[in-house]
Amino acid sequence: MRISDQEMMVKTDLPFHKAPPYRTKVVEYTIPTTRQQRQEIMKKHGYSGRLLPAKYVFINMVTDSGTGAMSDRQWSAMMEGDESYFYCRSYEYFEEVAQNYTGMPYILPSHQGRSAEAPLYECLVQPGDKVPSNTHFTTTSAWSFQRGAEPVDFVEVSYFDPNDTTSQFKGGIDTEALERYFELHAEKIPLVDLVVPNNLNGGMGVSMKDIKETRRIIDKYNKRGTLLCLDIARISENAWIIKNHEEGYKDKSCAEIVREMLSYADCCHMSSKKCGLVNMGGFSAVRDKQLWYRMQPKVIRTDGYITYGGMNGRDLEALAVGLVEGVNDYYLQDRQRQVEYFANACKKRGVHILEPASSYAVYINAGKCVPHLDHTQGPATCLSAQAYIEGGFASTAMDSLQRGRIDPENPLDTSKRIKAPYELIRCAIPRRAYFEPHYDWAAECLARAMAHGTKLPAFKPIADDRPPLEISEIGLHTFFDDYEPVTPLP
Ligand SMILES: Cc1ncc(COP(=O)(O)O)c(C=O)c1O
Repeated sequence: MRISDQEMMVKTDLPFHKAPPYRTKVVEYTIPTTRQQRQEIMKKHGYSGRLLPAKYVFINMVTDSGTGAMSDRQWSAMMEGDESYFYCRSYEYFEEVAQNYTGMPYILPSHQGRSAEAPLYECLVQPGDKVPSNTHFTTTSAWSFQRGAEPVDFVEVSYFDPNDTTSQFKGGIDTEALERYFELHAEKIPLVDLVVPNNLNGGMGVSMKDIKETRRIIDKYNKRGTLLCLDIARISENAWIIKNHEEGYKDKSCAEIVREMLSYADCCHMSSKKCGLVNMGGFSAVRDKQLWYRMQPKVIRTDGYITYGGMNGRDLEALAVGLVEGVNDYYLQDRQRQVEYFANACKKRGVHILEPASSYAVYINAGKCVPHLDHTQGPATCLSAQAYIEGGFASTAMDSLQRGRIDPENPLDTSKRIKAPYELIRCAIPRRAYFEPHYDWAAECLARAMAHGTKLPAFKPIADDRPPLEISEIGLHTFFDDYEPVTPLP
């Protein structure tokens, strides 16, 4: 019989703050490589974590999305998956878990985060609208553009202060700027989409205070039924930050904190490949039954019936179990411990990181690690590529060279790149996958890469034969643009 959700949460004096509350049953191998092979692989595959064949990656922190290990409880639940087309048993189970998790009555499963966003944006957002956020994830801004609307980011001001290394809620929304924006544009705002935590800004946490204040602003200026929506891909990891750093929450469980965060919202969408602890899956949840009805045909048009949304019965089972495991306090404590271990391993070796470390990733401050390269020369692109050559460690460069292109006509002109506040490499930690020696080695790869100093070359975009992206798709260029070093990597 499976260990129950309740049994997983009983009080203990075991040292779960020092060691994971689980053990390994299945392991996964990759193909060992030599430095010379890695140099060739890098060159052949476009100098980017996104393009590297995963079989040649020793430690893979390109993303934490769908890359975690599922538990024995999830795998055994999958065997119970009901593959009936309509209203399968697995949907009923999943629906109840998702209702409990979110506190919202109406649920629509989807195969990943962006397909959960789709029916919400299709129903709510109209041409000419404006959609504020703390920082839209790539796909929600793409949905806004696709709907003919404008996504607008109001980044919490402390995020821009490189000397502030302790504020835990730098991922929030600038509520003063948001209020001013509502004064001017309230009738054009269909929803505010808050990403908790803020993935594209250092993975920083969002406070309960910010969520409540956003609710207040919406209620004060509401002219057209504006909704508060949370992007909850990593909500339980944000709850862990609130539990440990916001007054009044230390005695609450993360499940209670998640429920409270969502109690201020009207709807949410989740890429469950993160805190749902599954390799594929997602859902949206809403309070308004009429909205739920309006979303349903959109799901049927592209993803299948409303009780599966592109998922198998077995996927729904794994997700139902994973949602509960992913909000377990012992698990979250261990996850934070692992992130901090890696952050310290980097700092010990002189690798500059963005502080505080988030609850799921360490963001390397490549601008500081490679100061001779400016924002048009891809310091993060270069350091990330070199770290793979040093020791098979893959990560995601998020620098101005890769992210700051806005001119669809001139993809090769780097002088027009928007300068990001930081030139970052995101090292996103897969869940329940790596151990301390991996983190030490990953930090070592970054340190060895950094030690090449001014021998690290600038990167430049390279021409390809793709047709130009449509204007509404321009934000997705990061998935297609390619770069190369101006001189060979060391
Ligand atoms: C904050 C956030 N929202 C939405 C998404 C989109 O989710 P998916 O990749 O499952 O479509 C992601 C993916 O990384 C994300 O980080």
